Amino acid sequence: MTLITESVGEAAEFLINGQITAFPTETVYGLGASIQHEAAIQNIFTAKGRPSDNPLIVHIADLDDLNYLVEQPLNQNIYYLIKAFWPGPLTLILPLNKNIKLSPMINAGLNSIAIRMPSHPAALDLIRKVKSPLVAPSANLSGKPSPTSYLHVLEDFNNIIPCILKGTITDYGLESTIINCLNPNNFQLLRAGALEVEKIEKIIPLEIKNNNFKKAASKPLSPGMKYKHYAPKAKVNIIDTNSKIINASEAAYIGLTDKPEKFKKICLANNLDDYAKNLFAFFRACDEENIQIIYTERPQRQGIGLAILERLIKAASG
Ligand code: TXA
Ligand code: MG
Repeated sequence: MTLITESVGEAAEFLINGQITAFPTETVYGLGASIQHEAAIQNIFTAKGRPSDNPLIVHIADLDDLNYLVEQPLNQNIYYLIKAFWPGPLTLILPLNKNIKLSPMINAGLNSIAIRMPSHPAALDLIRKVKSPLVAPSANLSGKPSPTSYLHVLEDFNNIIPCILKGTITDYGLESTIINCLNPNNFQLLRAGALEVEKIEKIIPLEIKNNNFKKAASKPLSPGMKYKHYAPKAKVNIIDTNSKIINASEAAYIGLTDKPEKFKKICLANNLDDYAKNLFAFFRACDEENIQIIYTERPQRQGIGLAILERLIKAASG
């Protein structure tokens, strides 16, 4: 039985008792466990079918937790990022504090740790009620699109996880932006995400490897990058204005520009934010309807368009 609750207190009880619980964040739903409970962390990997060498993001609600988890002192630029964007959809890869006992399952035994402070009120409230940071990968089966609604979580984990903290559809619809801060002279974008790189570049210089946007990066910067992600069952084609479209009546289309063809299923987004917010739900709906071909309009490589494009390229190579 999976309990669906809107009570943060009730969801917190599961986590305190060493069980796993899905919860909403401003990006996508996460599948959480307290960092104190090894067995629960192991259950996350098992439930998702996630390879054990793919580390998890630690979600915190207060800067005291950051100070405990990372090696001090942090570079000043890191504090500028934190001041500008936390709480919010930015994950930082930071040097791990070697003096604490942390389950190696969390960070795949690396000497770094991924940390983010979500801005979703229920997520912050949950972390504070549990009185411990929470590890939380996206609450989807490995290889499925990240969940933007509690119903997607239920689709993947009904009767598999004990509890879902129910919220509304997530604000951004794509995962957090990840920056590697291990070399203070060279901050690197590891995953384009909900926080636009242009905003980050106003605060610090950022290295953006084109690598991220190629099909299968042979040497991934972030362990998770090497795994197949966001792949619907259909064949995904990224199209430009004059790309040829065949079998439209059997196919689905998502994009900003209206098309003359009559598609079986269509999602016309008002703007890039709307495109991002609807993308994963659209992929899931196409799977449900057994659609074989999905056409996706290539977004501009700016703002959240970069993060959309990264997801589309992965989906198209799946
Ligand atoms: O928006 C998000 O970030 C969502 C919500 C739930 O917070 N979480 C999420 O987690 O997307 P997940 O597990 O699906 O993606 C985490 C990514 C993976 O690609 C993983 O390899 C990378 O972060 N990662 C975690 N720790 C790392 C580390 N120490 N060094 C490099 N990459 C790391
Ligand atoms: Mg994920």
